[in-house]
Amino acid sequence: MSETTLRVSKIRDGTVIDHITGGHALEVLKILGITDHVDGVVTVGMNVPSKTLGLKDMVKIEGRELKSEEVDKIALLAPHASINIIRDYEVIDKQLVRLPKIIKETVKCANPACISNSKEPVKSTFYVENEEPLRLRCHYCGYIMEKQDIPNQF
Ligand code: CTP
Ligand code: ZN
Repeated sequence: MSETTLRVSKIRDGTVIDHITGGHALEVLKILGITDHVDGVVTVGMNVPSKTLGLKDMVKIEGRELKSEEVDKIALLAPHASINIIRDYEVIDKQLVRLPKIIKETVKCANPACISNSKEPVKSTFYVENEEPLRLRCHYCGYIMEKQDIPNQF
């Protein structure tokens, strides 16, 4: 898209989360803790035409650069997202999100009887069995978590 037809304006400093699968922008905002109270300017684009994804969502957060734990959480729900760090209008870093093979301490097991949900000092651990559709297997109880089990946790 050319400069004159940009739908969402460029930002000066901050993070652009681009190529979010269409319809998932609100989940990404939730992961980042951006809900009813927002500091700074946040712009959300939904169902923006994209050459590669058909329709994509994007989130632009001014004045904030994401931490790597935040990027890892985004990978769970938006596996094609790219994270662009912007300084003084230039993209100074672009990374694709990626899911590690093992996810520790990020997701809570949905099985209430799982030892990771008891008072025992065990850290939740999941194996990524499939990226899309997402399937995570609990190390402790074998419970299979799917995408819909995850957004309410953040
Ligand atoms: N962007 C922005 N503000 C800037 C610079 C870039 O909001 N000052 C946004 C662009 O609109 C785009 C994303 O950051 O959504 C990545 O920018 P850029 O790498 O310039 O775009 P593309 O080449 O289209 O990115 P890609 O190759 O990842 O599709
Ligand atoms: Zn479990």
